[in-house]
Amino acid sequence: MRVEIEGEPVCVARVDNEVFAVGDTCSHANVSLAEGEIVGYDIECWLHGSRFDLRTGIPDTPPAVVSLPTYLVTMVDDMAVIERKK
Ligand code: FES
Repeated sequence: MRVEIEGEPVCVARVDNEVFAVGDTCSHANVSLAEGEIVGYDIECWLHGSRFDLRTGIPDTPPAVVSLPTYLVTMVDDMAVIERKK
């Protein structure tokens, strides 16, 4: 899902029991990654198919070559608290 944190679009994704948060804007072009699909620990961009590792923000496949920002996710009960990494 797409959320905003301090005005920045963030893609929040769950893989099994883990929750990850990365910048929502694909680094190849200006589209929302939250509209893509989760493949293992990757989020796949719906437009050209780049896959980004949700744990690191690093693109695993082209055409994207620039990493996404990543966010710190802490689970409090059933709620995900998402913070900018410092
Ligand atoms: S816009 Fe995401 S891979 Fe091109």
